[in-house]
Amino acid sequence: MIRAAILGTGFHVPEQIVTNQDMTKWMDTSDEWITQRSGIQERRWVTIGTDGKATETGAEMGAKAAAQAMAQAGVEPAEIDLVIYATLNPDCFFPGNGVFVEDLLGLKTAGAMDIRNQCSGFVYGLAAADGFIRAGTARTILVIGGEIQSTALNVTTEGREMAVLFGDGAGAVVVQAAEGQRGILASVLHSQGRFAKDLWLEAPTALVPERINADLIAAGRHYPTMDGKLVFKHATRRFCEAIKEVLEKGGATVDEVDLLVPHQANQRITEAVGKRMGLPADRVFSNIARYGNTTAATIPIALSEAAAAGRLKSGDLVVTVAFGSGFTWGANLIRW
Ligand code: UT7
Repeated sequence: MIRAAILGTGFHVPEQIVTNQDMTKWMDTSDEWITQRSGIQERRWVTIGTDGKATETGAEMGAKAAAQAMAQAGVEPAEIDLVIYATLNPDCFFPGNGVFVEDLLGLKTAGAMDIRNQCSGFVYGLAAADGFIRAGTARTILVIGGEIQSTALNVTTEGREMAVLFGDGAGAVVVQAAEGQRGILASVLHSQGRFAKDLWLEAPTALVPERINADLIAAGRHYPTMDGKLVFKHATRRFCEAIKEVLEKGGATVDEVDLLVPHQANQRITEAVGKRMGLPADRVFSNIARYGNTTAATIPIALSEAAAAGRLKSGDLVVTVAFGSGFTWGANLIRW
């Protein structure tokens, strides 16, 4: 049986570390509040150069992560059939970041598509890669999750609820057709659009001439906003539902799960989900303290770090699960 196996992982984060203490220079907040409410101690943000622009692009970060994953998998650029790039922050309105990666890595006209599914983008991307591989449309796929969020944030007291949570970075995996037990066993995907405006970024928007105007900016509608408590409540519930559903679909039980790799949204969400699922802390991956919420990048960064730390061994059963803006959520069950 042909399955879509993850053969390599990689990640890249900007050099600049922004600590909770740094945040207190720009807004009314404290290290204590941020650590207690979210578990975040620091995050990486791109550096803004003297020309007023980020010194690295999102696609460049994704390409660096992908190059590592390809080296680990022993895959050459010419072997990549498709790039699936999950991001809510493309470097430009169009085209998506995937095509820039095709160029940066010299992928010889490999297909490229972006997925706009925010925090669950990488889970959707893995599910899509699995489908393409099983259908024979592609044999080797790069799935990348990457974000530059810092440039979208309102880094003042007004925007503090969002600003302290989010970080920049990219992670990538190489997914390839393989025979045997190894690979993506099942995926589940969901959305509930009635909550779209409870975690969103309205502008720039195709609905107004010029896409942005002084009124939108004056009203702060070019900043992301969310109803934090509502998102928290739904996330905890949907994470657990998706884990149960994907396990059932893949014919496995929670006791068999070696590592749960949840989207890193909030340490309290991670702990609540682990507890509700009956998984001890050493079987639930967390690195939110160092990177914050990097949206579509949290899971591939976590997979990279978990693999490097020897926490993902051949044959392990792994669950990835995410919830976020849309609302969208989903999970993948993977035999490593
Ligand atoms: O990946 C999906 C994306 N997002 C999420 O998953 C986020 C989900 N939500 C959360 O993680 C949490 O709701 C937050 C971390 C955002 C907030 O934690 P909370 O325990 O829900 O906070 P709260 O609502 O109990 O506290 C809010 C209070 C407000 O003050 P008042 O109205 O109670 O006086 C805020 O103004 O905390 C205040 N606050 C802050 N204070 C210091 C909000 N942000 C900050 C801040 N520093 N950065």
